[in-house]
Order: sequence, then C-alpha cells, then structure tokens
Amino acid sequence: MKILLIGGGGREHAIAASIVKSKRCEKLYCAPGNAGIAEIAECVPIGVMDFDAQAAFAKEHGIDLVVCSQDDPLCAGLVDSLEAKGLRVFGTRKNAAIIEGSKAFSKNLMKKYGIPTAEYEIFTEPDKAIEYLETQAKFPIVLKADGLALGKGVLICNDLDEAKAGVKTIMEDKKFGSAGNEMVIEEFMTGREVSALAFVDGKTYRLMSSSQDHKRAGDGDTGLNTGGMGTFSPSPFYTPEVDKLCRERIYQKTVDAMAAEGRPFKGVLYFGLMLTQDGPKVVEYNTRFGDPETQVVLPRMKTDILDVFDACLDGRLDEVNLEFEDNAAVCVVLASDGYPVKYEKGKIITGLENFRGRDDYFCFHAGTKFDENGNVVTNGGRVLGVTAKGRTLVEARKKAYEAAEWVHFDNKYMRHDIGKAIDEA
Ligand code: AMP
Ligand code: GLY
Repeated sequence: MKILLIGGGGREHAIAASIVKSKRCEKLYCAPGNAGIAEIAECVPIGVMDFDAQAAFAKEHGIDLVVCSQDDPLCAGLVDSLEAKGLRVFGTRKNAAIIEGSKAFSKNLMKKYGIPTAEYEIFTEPDKAIEYLETQAKFPIVLKADGLALGKGVLICNDLDEAKAGVKTIMEDKKFGSAGNEMVIEEFMTGREVSALAFVDGKTYRLMSSSQDHKRAGDGDTGLNTGGMGTFSPSPFYTPEVDKLCRERIYQKTVDAMAAEGRPFKGVLYFGLMLTQDGPKVVEYNTRFGDPETQVVLPRMKTDILDVFDACLDGRLDEVNLEFEDNAAVCVVLASDGYPVKYEKGKIITGLENFRGRDDYFCFHAGTKFDENGNVVTNGGRVLGVTAKGRTLVEARKKAYEAAEWVHFDNKYMRHDIGKAIDEA
C-alpha cells in the first residue's frame, strides 16, 4: 500500500512508526511531517488544512490510503473532502467529528443517551451565564468554550469572581475565538483521569491499552495546561472493574448514540475519563489519537495497524482481535523552556543517534525541522517525546528518564514526575 499521513507532530511520528512496521506498507508519505518523520517517510510540504493539495498529491502518487488524526482538519471536513474525490481515508467524517468539535453537542449527546458525565448547563449569552453563576453555581466550577481551542478552552474557577472573569474571557473577549460563541458550565469532578482510545467502524469498537496524560506544565501538576507533558501506559488505575463499568455504561453506548443520531463514528474515538467515587464519567471525547498518549500506546500494539484501519473502513472491526504487548511504556516530553507561553525555537538538537538500533527506546519528534545547514533544530513548544518500554511501569519510567538525558538542546525543559502516580497504585 502507498499511504499519505496528514500532520507533523509526535502523534504522527508514532503513527508513522506503526505504519512502516506493517509488511503491507510499500511507501509512506507525510504532509507536512517533521525532521523525525523524515527518517521513515517522505515528507511533502503540504499543510494539514490544504485538502485540495492533499487530494491532488494523493491522486498523482497513486495513494491507496490517506490517514488523518488531527482535530482541526477532521472537524473541518478533511475526510469528506478527500472521499468526494474518490480517495480512501482513515479518519472521522465531519458530521461525527463534532463529538470533539462541539462540547455542547457532546454534552447533549451524553444526556440524551444516559452516558455518565458531569452535570452541566449550556449558554449562548454571557448575561445568562453570569446569572446562573450568581444564583446556582457550586465552586469550584468548570467553564468550557464550546469549540476547538487547542486544548486550552477549559477554565477551572474557584470562586464567583474567577468564574465571572472566565465568562468574559471566553464569551466577550473571545480569547478562544468563535469557539467561545457558546459555553458549557459544568460540575467540577474529582478523581483519577484515564485516556481510553478505541478504534471504531461505525458500530463496533476495539479498545486500545489505557494510558494517562500529564496536562500541566510543572512538576506536581502545577502551572498552565499544555498539550501534554508525558504519558504512561497502561494505567494501573484502569482496573478490570473499571473496564467493565466503562464497557457497560460508556463505550458501546456512545458508538450506538452516534449511529442513532445519523452520525456513524469511524476512526479513533478518545474517551477522556474521570474515575469518580460514583464510577467512571466522561470528561471529554476526542475524534482522534491522543497526543502524547499515542506515543505510549502504539509502540505496545502488536496488531498490524493497516489491518485495523482497513477493518474500520470496511465495517469489519468485529473480526479484529486487537493485541497489545504485556509490558509498559512511559513517554517524557522534552519541551522548550517557557512552553506553553513564550519560548525560543531554532536550537540545535544533538544526541538523536543514541536511539538508533535500540528496540525499547523511541524518540518521537513533535516540533523539529531541518535548518539550512541540515541540522535538526527545535521548532515548537513540545520538541521531542522520549518513550521507553519496560516489563513494568517502574522499569519503563526509569529507562525513559535515562534516555531523556541522551538528547540535548538549549532551553530543554521536562517534568520530572511523569508516572509518579504509579508508586501510589
Ligand atoms: P478537556 O479539554 O475537556 O479535556 O479538559 C481539560 C482538562 O480539564 C481535563 O483533562 C481535566 O483535567 C480538566 N477538567 C475538564 N472538565 C472537568 C470537570 N468537569 N471536572 C474536573 N476537571 C475537569
Ligand atoms: N493528550 C490530550 C489530547 O490529545 O487531547
């Protein structure tokens, strides 16, 4: 098969690594890719939102399958656009990607179909939101811009003043753009968070191994929310009991709900779960692989990813037995100091060769590129995802932190407590 992968982050590097492992992969292209992906695929300078150029490239190069797992292009209709030109695409169509693209949609879906989630109200006018906060809210409370906001449109407010300021930020100042035309105000939940990713073919789902992200920038879960500073898989908190409850109350119900709404879901469905005292509840849905969850989940997947993609597209997922290695993986993100606010780019990265030929170690590139002299340089807030596999989570974490020292660049920053929760399990 000739494959075109859309995107250029750490998640795409991990997906690319899985694709080239398949015997069925003859040639992989990536648009636009990055300096790491360039080692295993041919990168082409086409942007993720340039559907016409993607389609033209795919036609010209005889692409058998296009793969996309990024929220913006999926919510904007990448799959629909390329399918209309006769291409085969693994990803979620626009009418189903709304499960991530609109929090109001996903909350209403859960309410209608009895899927456990935080209590909520939806507002389109700031005055009504403030009135609600003044009269009925319990604090802390959670404010969410309705639309896509790079994972930053969620505000946890400890008191009325903070919440009022939050309404202004989202609905009046439009800090997250049109994502803030509508807003969800919801109950604050407490508990462990788990990411559960599933392949879905419209009716059947197959769950991948569980994982946990670390969203805050600083050690001890302090500082600002980021795209994710590190992950581990599996989550020891995702016990067989939790799994049973999620299967009964959440996964199939969501897949069936989307089908019943005339929005059959195909692709990867990400369940962001909170394990509360009242059982698992959905924090959010995403319509794609998580980033950096993918960097610990896919290296452990034994099943050929192209077979799984095909089964999803052909509605044959019930025939697939999805298998994972009986081990663990930890990913430590190496970021540019100052991320997620302000940071410098263009720093030369050294030591990448240390990962060559070591089966248990991966250095996924998130924000890198080649400079004019052919050096690999930093090109984003999150730069690299250093993943190691081990027999246990403790061993994987030790190896990941050792490997994090193999690479160097000025202003390298990382959290030192990725996977620390393992010790409490
Ligand atoms: P989201 O973009 O919806 O995943 O929210 C980002 C993060 O905010 C989540 O991973 C949680 O850590 C936190 N969060 C979102 N909703 C809630 C909630 N209702 N209660 C507590 N924390 C939340
Ligand atoms: N790691 C969180 C996400 O991919 O949304």
